Amino acid sequence: MILTQPVVKAAKNQTEQQKIIFEDWESVRDIVNDPKYSQVVVFVDSNTEKLCLFTFFEHIDRQVRVISVPAGEEHKTLDTCAYVYEQMIRKNIDRESLGVLIGGGMVGDLAGYCCATYMRGIPFVSLPTTLLSQVDACVGGKLGVDVKGLKNVVGVFQEPEKVFVFQSFLKTLPQVQVRNGFAEVIKHWLIADQKSFYEAGKEVFSYDKNPEKWVASSIRTKLDITTKDPKETGLRKILNFGHTIGHAIETSGLIKGIPILHGEAIAVGMICESYISYRMNLLTEGENFAIRQFIISVFGHNPKWVSEPEQLVDLMHKDKKNRNGKIRFSLLEGIGNAVYNWEVPEEIIYESLYFYKQKW
Ligand SMILES: NC(=O)c1ccc[n+]([C@@H]2O[C@H](COP(=O)([O-])OP(=O)(O)OC[C@H]3O[C@@H](n4cnc5c(N)ncnc54)[C@H](O)[C@@H]3O)[C@@H](O)[C@H]2O)c1
Repeated sequence: MILTQPVVKAAKNQTEQQKIIFEDWESVRDIVNDPKYSQVVVFVDSNTEKLCLFTFFEHIDRQVRVISVPAGEEHKTLDTCAYVYEQMIRKNIDRESLGVLIGGGMVGDLAGYCCATYMRGIPFVSLPTTLLSQVDACVGGKLGVDVKGLKNVVGVFQEPEKVFVFQSFLKTLPQVQVRNGFAEVIKHWLIADQKSFYEAGKEVFSYDKNPEKWVASSIRTKLDITTKDPKETGLRKILNFGHTIGHAIETSGLIKGIPILHGEAIAVGMICESYISYRMNLLTEGENFAIRQFIISVFGHNPKWVSEPEQLVDLMHKDKKNRNGKIRFSLLEGIGNAVYNWEVPEEIIYESLYFYKQKW
């Protein structure tokens, strides 16, 4: 069944827009100092504790409690949640407390989930510190953790009170992490912003100079979509472009103990799913070629990640988007326009993995 809808770029919901605040420590201070919050509990991981927390303290004058979790996707688990809840109880965090999340998507998803569930939910604000979390994870209210290696299989929808975006956090981010976040920028171009994709393709492209230049427009794209469909009943599914195959690759890496970054996996997923779009007569061969060339120019070619197609297809069967055991995809109907709920014959899924695997 084809359910397709153009991405509407109409006027944004004002309230949603006001949730994202750029470069404004004054507003962070105001919310942290708000006396309606009995306590402020700050969540970091072991890296953002070292690299980002002092910047926060520089601008804040209220006593806060800090909870630090080990960095890395392998710690985005219910075990880490249990540790966080324990710490929250030990620090007497009550229902009137405010959570402050300082970190990338891992801290955002995990600590956000803990805030949304602790004592049936405490409010929280987010200060995303990676490119990926700024352009993607901090917007849209999805929170959760991985279970048995299955990505984000337990979670809730809850919006933060505010999101504060500061470019300066990106200064300490390793280049590989900048590139990781850039995958979601490319995805936003492919599903909703054809002009930016072709403009980037025209120049000798460098994603790592001034990464912050992609942030605002990417946030706008995600906000446009998630504001219209906050609970992913329809349109929002287009954000999953590249993620059906990408998540399977990421999960297979977790299972094998080979860490594959989310963005790296999504980059492969976008090449395969563009191929599927081409095979389903939604994309031209030229468009498919342009997408593959551009993504490979940024991420290189990693055929070993798709070396076990059966395992990947098996993992895709566990995807949350499936219905009646059928794997469903969000695909491209031309660059800059996405469609969702496409059931794809399994042989074409395999073909797309072989397509990626071949030497170019
Ligand atoms: N909720 C959503 O809508 C959504 C969307 C996309 C991705 N995600 C999730 O986000 C996670 C990936 O996010 P991520 O790529 O930000 O990973 P991450 O949070 O694991 O951060 C990557 C690494 O960078 C470190 N780091 C963070 N900020 C830093 C800084 N300023 N300087 C130096 N190092 C820093 C972290 O400690 C970590 O080692 C995944 O779990 C994914 O499922 C969620």
